[in-house]
Amino acid sequence: MAVITNIEDLKRIYERRVPRMFYDYAESGSWTEQTFRENSSDFDLIRLRQRVAVDMSGRSTASQMVGQDVAMPVALAPVGLTGMQNADGEIKAARAANEFGVPFTLSTMSINSIEEVAEATGRPFWFQLYIMRDTDYTSRLIQRAKAAKCSALVITLDLQILGQRHKDLKNGLSAPPKLTPKTIANLMTKWAWGIEMLGAKRRNFGNIVGHVHGVSDTANLGAWTAEQFDPTLDWGKVAKLMEQWDGKVILKGILDAEDAKMAAKLGADAIVVSNHGGRQLDGALSSIRVLPEIMDAVGGDIEVHLDSGIRSGQDVLKALALGAKGTMIGRAFVYGLGAMGQAGVTKALEVIHRELDVTMALCGEKNVANLGSHNLLVPEDFGGRWA
Ligand SMILES: Cc1cc2nc3c(=O)[nH]c(=O)nc-3n(C[C@H](O)[C@H](O)[C@H](O)COP(=O)(O)O)c2cc1C
Repeated sequence: MAVITNIEDLKRIYERRVPRMFYDYAESGSWTEQTFRENSSDFDLIRLRQRVAVDMSGRSTASQMVGQDVAMPVALAPVGLTGMQNADGEIKAARAANEFGVPFTLSTMSINSIEEVAEATGRPFWFQLYIMRDTDYTSRLIQRAKAAKCSALVITLDLQILGQRHKDLKNGLSAPPKLTPKTIANLMTKWAWGIEMLGAKRRNFGNIVGHVHGVSDTANLGAWTAEQFDPTLDWGKVAKLMEQWDGKVILKGILDAEDAKMAAKLGADAIVVSNHGGRQLDGALSSIRVLPEIMDAVGGDIEVHLDSGIRSGQDVLKALALGAKGTMIGRAFVYGLGAMGQAGVTKALEVIHRELDVTMALCGEKNVANLGSHNLLVPEDFGGRWA
């Protein structure tokens, strides 16, 4: 077994182990993938200030996200089809997150259902809601998340229409995979994945199949899903859903200071500055680049989290030092899950935790709460001069 020292190592194993269709699904952005690439490369533009001769004993990465204690301010982001990356992937990822002491977010488009994850883990998790045209279905999803004692509702606002990802169309992405000569040839090289998948609790969308009238199998599921995201979503509807949930709400997919102000005005508990990992509006700025402007606009009014592009503890530290109270990781945990199941998610969290802890020490800080702009060297034109 190779010695795994960073997230890139997990990605290499993941690529070997998981069918190409699901690897491509995770490892792509929309259209030219400019935003997908810049999400990560923009982190590299920010440098860290090294400090010495500072007592670095007794360090802690512990913090809070929406009032919940976390071992480090890094939640697992909602990722659709996680259970296709590894059998019962949502349950495994949730267990790893629980053991580590960070929040797990279950996607509406998960394989394991809300109830399956709740039963298997016995701990509250966050539920991510996509708002669908079928308002009864959306209401029932909210009720189900309540019944499962989910501790926060993450409402995703940046996917009412799907950004085009070329590879998914070319691969004919589906869950479970359709058996074409191309997929069969690829699956034959992924036998370990396949054997585990045979024993999975579920291989289709657990929150949808059996919960929507007329959708009973994968044949009509694809068509239903593609048409379901509600294109009429507006702030009024968001406000109503927040009322309906009546608990902690995190609004995800904010990339503009004006939208951040709207979210704060609505009284959400937090926002996630996010461009969906570069999977929606290609050509949008990276999340880390817009963070300073959003902090200026609403930093004093609402808790701000950030995702998109985080691949290391240094990236987490940079987001926190720019003012984010928390972060989310998507692909970084998916690589671990696909590579090694639950142990791989744990490994991804350990890697990021160690990087965060050591980097914090070398910056002369003992506590994530003390991180700030004094720890960073940010290019003067980092926000960019855009007319
Ligand atoms: C394969 C994949 C599936 C995703 N599915 C969802 C989803 O179902 N709901 C959602 O709100 N975000 C979804 N996202 C976006 C993530 O929640 C998160 O914003 C993104 O992954 C962060 O970027 P990163 O992967 O660079 O960390 C998905 C991302 C990926 C990579």
